[in-house]
Amino acid sequence: MAGLAMAPTGQGFGALVEGLDIPRATGSELDQCRQWLFEHGALFIRGQELDPQAQIDFAEALGTIVVNRFFTPVPGFPKVAQLLTEPTQDWIIGENWHTDHSYDVVPALGSILYAVEVPPVGGDTQFIGMQPAYDSLPPDLKERIEGLMARHESAHIFAPSEAIRLEEAAERNDGNYMERAATYPEAVHPVVLSHPETGRKGLYVNPEFTTGIVDMDKEEGDALLQQLYDHILQPQFRYVWKWQPGSLALWDNRSTWHKAMNDHRGHRRLMRRITLEGVPLDQGARAAA
Ligand code: SIN
Repeated sequence: MAGLAMAPTGQGFGALVEGLDIPRATGSELDQCRQWLFEHGALFIRGQELDPQAQIDFAEALGTIVVNRFFTPVPGFPKVAQLLTEPTQDWIIGENWHTDHSYDVVPALGSILYAVEVPPVGGDTQFIGMQPAYDSLPPDLKERIEGLMARHESAHIFAPSEAIRLEEAAERNDGNYMERAATYPEAVHPVVLSHPETGRKGLYVNPEFTTGIVDMDKEEGDALLQQLYDHILQPQFRYVWKWQPGSLALWDNRSTWHKAMNDHRGHRRLMRRITLEGVPLDQGARAAA
């Protein structure tokens, strides 16, 4: 049997992994994947056959699962989110650039996305490496952002759709759902993050959940964030992952952004996602005031 092999994507982050059969992976292969994940920020793997339980087993071999309370679970598997786009749908979960759970006080380490059903064309996921993006900032901008903290929130994204789902849940008399939807997390994290495992610096702000810079007025903070986003969104930092049924992507939310391409109207797309629990990002991390 061919051994485990890794090839960098060539985009300054991310790597393709070959020779891994996830349900039969050994402890040392899983340790190697964890190490590659932290070093490269994202791993891309093809040809897996994973039912929801096998995806849970893989996630639990890598860390502790954290449940995304805003997503619909796979029936019978509350730890696994079902990301379904119907052919008639004109929106898709995760279609704007973001990193998962940055609004949590202890944000997610990573996410494991598995493709069940993919459209014949389109439906890719794009990724950006936040460490190469940081490395190539002009020195004066690096100096300006060092030590700054940013606010991350969830209500502006999830409250509107949750209000609709709450109404539907109330109609169905779905008490559980009503309980889960009580609060919207928010947090404060460093703009320049020293990665908790490798110490390498990267940018930790994103257009979806970051709502401002702490101790900076709104206009100035928004202008600074936009300046960073304009830099990050340059094409050289991107990698496009083209899905096939059985493909898997495993990414580190502390060093990457991603977005789902909303370009496959008329075709179904069905994915399963598990999120892994992280650690506090530094001494300064705290709940937003
Ligand atoms: C996500 O944002 O986690 C989903 C990405 C995708 O479905 O491509």
